[in-house]
Amino acid sequence: MGTGKGFGKVILFGEHFVVHGIPGIVSATDLATVSNVMKGHSGIAVKDERKGTEGYSEKKKLQQQESIESMLDMMGIKERSFEIYLGGDLPVFSGIGASAASSVAIARAMASELKLNFSDEKINQIAYEAEKAYAGTPSGIDNTAATYGGLLWFKKGEPNTVERIKVKKPFEIVLCNTGVVADTKAAVEGVRERKNKNPQKYNPIFQKAEKLVYEARKAIESSDLSRVGKLMDENHMFLQEIEVSCKELDYLVKLAKKNGAMGAKLTGGGLGGCMVALTPGKQVQDRVANAMENEGFQLLKLKVGV
Ligand code: PMV
Repeated sequence: MGTGKGFGKVILFGEHFVVHGIPGIVSATDLATVSNVMKGHSGIAVKDERKGTEGYSEKKKLQQQESIESMLDMMGIKERSFEIYLGGDLPVFSGIGASAASSVAIARAMASELKLNFSDEKINQIAYEAEKAYAGTPSGIDNTAATYGGLLWFKKGEPNTVERIKVKKPFEIVLCNTGVVADTKAAVEGVRERKNKNPQKYNPIFQKAEKLVYEARKAIESSDLSRVGKLMDENHMFLQEIEVSCKELDYLVKLAKKNGAMGAKLTGGGLGGCMVALTPGKQVQDRVANAMENEGFQLLKLKVGV
């Protein structure tokens, strides 16, 4: 049996814009998806025991099958006789990079089962191919975070730019799930269509989003958290303007701010999925988390820059 693991992620700045070549800032989670792969089964059987949003695994089943097929093709594997187990402590919330984490975990487990000596770079490329099934034209930020972990600056290009961001002191965030399973592929396609149809509206927002992410990097590196929070709020406004937020996400952003978060925004593809709030210090983090828990939302208390 081969085993592999892939990290989850929280995009702090630049989702959607990153698909169009603007840099993004992403923090991988310590929580990870684990996969075990065994050859010898007839056909491909996936045993998905990941916990999280109800209905997530069923809704993603077809995209998952397509992603596994493209990974096997990319790895040059002709046989289709594998049992694939998925588990680990990363919950399957939309927006947390669950698909990329599973692709990296499966690619690593498959490589280990078949004794293929793949580098991290190769695993990342394979997971990028797999992400196309879930995200259409992915930027590559999710699979990069899932492969390498840590706090990263990512810019799509040929080649991609990936740099580690250092923080002086780690800080707390709350990730909260709307409970709405989102379709990243539809969200990404929607942005592209609207941008092509309405460049007068979209181009200035993209330009502002680009300026913002450079400022955000500076603020993170200099531990200017009140600035980071303001920039997160502004980033959320841009995401609202490109129509990838929704009432559940806007509600969580307001609830986070009301309870002391320094900033809050949607994270990931939007149209459901998750919100991230900047909550430095255990006390603020607990207050924001409790407010959300009291309303029945699922959430994670995480730390960036550890
Ligand atoms: O919804 P998620 O967790 O798959 O995040 C998608 C992030 C996007 O920027 C919308 C797409 C991408 O490939 O970068």
